[in-house]
Amino acid sequence: MIKPDAVENGHIGAILEKITGAGFNIVAMKYTQLSRRDAQEFYAIHKERPFFGELVEFMTRGPIVAAILEKDNAVDDFRALIGATNPAEAAEGTIRKLFATSIGENAVHGSDSDENAGIEGAFHFSGREVF
Ligand code: CMP
Repeated sequence: MIKPDAVENGHIGAILEKITGAGFNIVAMKYTQLSRRDAQEFYAIHKERPFFGELVEFMTRGPIVAAILEKDNAVDDFRALIGATNPAEAAEGTIRKLFATSIGENAVHGSDSDENAGIEGAFHFSGREVF
């Protein structure tokens, strides 16, 4: 996902350019907004964390871009491309270093395993929307 902060700040195009430039193939994509229920479900794994309320507030405050990306070694390569969760710790040239503002408002989300990529892809897209 390209998160609400990056959308608000006009970074959709630049972020997609970095993603496709790094060799990822976009197999599904949509511009949408999460409801509170959507965000609570998507981030259910974090529901006991102190930042959960803030995370749901943030992720629902404006539109996002959701996408499914394909590449060999996609999960690890995408995590390398986006950088550390906290932009202050993200490597130079990574998407979060370039476009994120804080650990909470960190511009993009990437799946942390192939299994979760499947679950998260199915959360956003029906079979007819994946190419
Ligand atoms: P993401 O990779 O989408 O996965 C969980 C999200 O929770 C994370 O990016 C941040 O947006 C948010 N998050 C993680 N840690 C913190 C924190 N310490 N304070 C606020 N938000 C956080």
